[in-house]
Amino acid sequence: MSATRTPAIIQVAADQEALARTAAEWVTSQMEAVLQKQPMFRLSLAGGSTPRATYRLLGNPAEPWRQRIAWERLEFFWGDERLVAATHADSNYRMANEALLSRVPVQPAHVHRVMTELATPDAVAAAYEAELRAVFAVASLSPSSSSLQSPLLWPAFDLVLLGLGADGHIASLFPGTTAVDETQRWVVAPFVEKFGTHRISLTLPVINNASAVAFLVSGSDKAETVARVLSPSGARDLPAARVQPQGELVWLLDCAAAGGLEP
Ligand code: 6PG
Repeated sequence: MSATRTPAIIQVAADQEALARTAAEWVTSQMEAVLQKQPMFRLSLAGGSTPRATYRLLGNPAEPWRQRIAWERLEFFWGDERLVAATHADSNYRMANEALLSRVPVQPAHVHRVMTELATPDAVAAAYEAELRAVFAVASLSPSSSSLQSPLLWPAFDLVLLGLGADGHIASLFPGTTAVDETQRWVVAPFVEKFGTHRISLTLPVINNASAVAFLVSGSDKAETVARVLSPSGARDLPAARVQPQGELVWLLDCAAAGGLEP
C-alpha cells in the first residue's frame, strides 16, 4: 500500500440518473482503454443498491454502452457477497445478474460468483479465494513462461467498483472489525455485528492492488462520510479512507453525496 495518498479524481453528477450515466461512460471508457493493451478485463462488481442503475445502462441495447463493450473479453467478480442463496433478494450476484449479466453475451465461465451455498462462511471464503488464485495465476503467466515461478502475492483487478456505507465501510469491511486489517488472505468471512451474520469480502490489500478503483456514491446520507474520507486528514478510522490503490482512484458522486465537499 503506497505511503502517500493516491490523489482521487472526483466527478460529480447532478442526480442519481446522471450519476448512473456518468459511471456507465467512465467504466466503458476504462474497459476500451485497457482492452487496447491486453486481452482480458477483470472487473470486481460492487454490491448494494447504488450500482444497479449503472449495470442496467451498461446492458441496455437502447443505450450507447452495450455495443461498445467487448463482452467476451470481460471477467466478472464480486467485491463482497451476502451469505444468502444466489437467488435470494439480498444477493449481490442476483442483483448484477438481473441488471446486467443475464442481458449481455458474457461467457458463463467468466462469471465468478461467490459460492455461498457451501457449508460454512470460511469454506465460502476459501473457495472464492481459490478461484481467484486460479484465475489470476493463469493471468499472470507471461507468454514466454509456461510455469508459475512463485505464487501470486495479490491479484491485479483491472477495476474494482465500490459503494460506500454511511459508516465508511467498503465491500464488507466494516469499521472496527479485524477484517479491515487483514494482510495475508485475499478473501475473508467476517461476522458483521450490525447484521448479525457473516459476509464474504475481498480484503484491502486486494482492493489496493487494483489498477483502478472507482467509488459510486449517491445520496445526502453519504455526504458527511464522503467529506471525511476525502478530507486531507483522511479519516483513517474509516475503511473507505484506506482505499489507496496502486493505480487510479476515482469517486463518482451525485450532488447529494458531494454536498459536504468544498466547492
Ligand atoms: C453490500 C455492498 C456494500 C455497499 C454499501 C453501499 O454488499 O451491501 O457491497 O459495501 O456497497 O453498503 O450500499 P448502497 O449502494 O445500497 O448504499
